[in-house]
Amino acid sequence: MKIFEMRHLTVRDGEKEILHDLSFDLDENVESITITGPSGGGKSTFLKVLSSLQDFASGELLYKGKSLRELDPVQYRREVSYCFQQPVLFGETVRDCLNFPFEIRKLPFDEAKVLERLSEVNLSEDFMTQGISKLSGGEKQRVALVRNILFAPSVLLLDEVTSGLDSENKAIVREFIQKQKAVIVEVTHDAAEIEQAQHLLYIEEGRMVKHE
Ligand SMILES: Nc1ncnc2c1ncn2[C@@H]1O[C@H](COP(=O)(O)OP(=O)(O)O)[C@@H](O)[C@H]1O
Ligand SMILES: [Mg+2]
Repeated sequence: MKIFEMRHLTVRDGEKEILHDLSFDLDENVESITITGPSGGGKSTFLKVLSSLQDFASGELLYKGKSLRELDPVQYRREVSYCFQQPVLFGETVRDCLNFPFEIRKLPFDEAKVLERLSEVNLSEDFMTQGISKLSGGEKQRVALVRNILFAPSVLLLDEVTSGLDSENKAIVREFIQKQKAVIVEVTHDAAEIEQAQHLLYIEEGRMVKHE
């Protein structure tokens, strides 16, 4: 069974072609795939297409054998979770932001679970009441990551999530990501992450130029 099947997919913005004729398969026995390539090459667009946040002009994209166009986007995005390069956090405090996944599922806030996940990314209990606007870039990124995994998605699409972190927090976040049961599709420029990649893809000028 394939998680993703992408066939001749093209993304356009007006006249401009952002992704050209991309084909790609992700088999269910693959645990993680790493994507790299120059800035502006289309990596974020590629992840957004996989997350159903970005539509495509032509071609086909299947998730577990079904066309993305036939799947309910709300349900789909719970299963396939995209973590933004520049995280967007909602609410006033970290608690508000992390309550959001509970709220949309009409579930009560599970404080113990949230505190445990926060501690796993090296954020103490004090962060719960911290104002979102007062967080550093790296802290925002970690809160966003916790929000994404609170209800274990099947696939995690990670867009340069370690780029704003110092080496200590990078290691913490790497370990946290590896612990998740989700299939990981991640974009990175980090040499060590590229070195450790299970499978490596290069996207350049809207094309997949290497597939290892
Ligand atoms: N929503 C959009 N509308 C128009 N152009 C876009 C949009 N998103 C990205 N682009 C353009 O598409 C190209 C690829 O961008 P992106 O996917 O962000 O690349 P990367 O993540 O590899 O840096 C760039 O030229 C960028 O300016
Ligand atoms: Mg990008």
